[in-house]
Amino acid sequence: MTEQIQRVRGMNDVLPGQIGGWQHLEGIVRNLLTEYGFEEIRTPVVEHTELFKRAIGEFTDVVEKEMYTFSDDEEKRSLTLRPEATAGVMRALISNGMLRGARHKLWCIGPMFRHERPQEVRYRQFYQVNVEAVGFTGPDADIELIAMTARLWRRLGIDRVKLNINSLGTPESRRVYRDKLVEYFRAHEARLDADSKRRLEGNPLRILDSKNPEMQEIVAGAPLLTDHLDPESREHFDTLCNSLREIGVPYQVNPRLVRGLDYYTRTVFEWITDALGAQDAVCSGGRYDGLIAQLGGESTPGVGFAMGVERAVKLLEKAERVPARPPADVYVVMSGERASTAGPSMVERLRDQLPQVRFELNLGGGTFKTQFRRADRSGAALALIVGDDELARGVVGVKPLRREAGQTDCPIAELAAGVRAALAQGA
Ligand code: HAM
Repeated sequence: MTEQIQRVRGMNDVLPGQIGGWQHLEGIVRNLLTEYGFEEIRTPVVEHTELFKRAIGEFTDVVEKEMYTFSDDEEKRSLTLRPEATAGVMRALISNGMLRGARHKLWCIGPMFRHERPQEVRYRQFYQVNVEAVGFTGPDADIELIAMTARLWRRLGIDRVKLNINSLGTPESRRVYRDKLVEYFRAHEARLDADSKRRLEGNPLRILDSKNPEMQEIVAGAPLLTDHLDPESREHFDTLCNSLREIGVPYQVNPRLVRGLDYYTRTVFEWITDALGAQDAVCSGGRYDGLIAQLGGESTPGVGFAMGVERAVKLLEKAERVPARPPADVYVVMSGERASTAGPSMVERLRDQLPQVRFELNLGGGTFKTQFRRADRSGAALALIVGDDELARGVVGVKPLRREAGQTDCPIAELAAGVRAALAQGA
């Protein structure tokens, strides 16, 4: 036998049996974002590698270890499968001349690619719903985004999530803090693990985010960023906290929340869960006031977040909030030669007349018994029997499948009304 071709590690098929949760989530997300005035944008999956290096930062795990990068002879420049969406969306705003003081509320959904070690709900291809508000300086935009995510969980019926927030200040206040942090970690250098030693040069803030339990004690004693905020960032953060309290969105200030991407300034936030094992972040984001300028666009502030779709769908499943797939309403059984051509055209006409009704036409023939077994399994409430005998009499057989009732004849000319009436009776 020829060897079968397997899927790529960390990249998943979403099968029909799993798609219900995805579609439910996507429908709710789309409606909610539209209600809040966000517009959809779609950008390519492939961008120049340079974009991600500049946006996300050279010393981040994503850029150092996780990007799918390749060369394209024609392009003559290195290309990368997007590990996240923010950089590409900002590139699109710049390269399509959409800034010039304008404000944009944008969202997109699509696959992202990171060469991480696959685990439960950590994949190499995963989907994000990504949301960005560009051109807004004040905390009101941060507040609206967070309130919207809180509403999203309520609509989805997901309650095992908690909000963590922090402020990273401005690049200037962070520089002062960074020096203090380096001084502190240098004093403990002998106890730092290899990763942290490397980060000490490039990105010492990321040491605070270390997952190594042996690092926890050193990290716990480190100076706090929130104690070194500049006055404007302090005020921005206080307004955010006050508003969240007023709106009624519970939160925890987590001074160790630094996020894994370098473009953040001021607000950062993360919705975490205890329901998904080691991977606790379901939705995360923050403000990136310097990013657009860093990518060569005119300086424009922005704030946004991304939700991991697989993780949110998993939470929906655990909360048993995935609606069941609706069964067919009517199953059409055919018997005889004339019926096999008359049946399909009759059903097409019925579909025109009753667009809300789900018809399932028996495909692939089969005995009467087989067809009825399929009708039963389809979950349909009603069977229509199109047989040569019935056709000769100008009728179609109508048989309720979910209650005790005999088969009756319905004149072909009145079939749409007959089906509607039978379904209204609970078939
Ligand atoms: P991020 O925290 O890197 O942020 O990713 C956002 C979300 O994507 C995470 O909270 C998680 O739910 C999901 N996610 C990340 N990696 C994986 C993975 N390997 N497998 C499954 N799910 C994953 C960003 O990407 C930023 N661009 C968010 C943002 C938008 N900030 C501002 N605007």
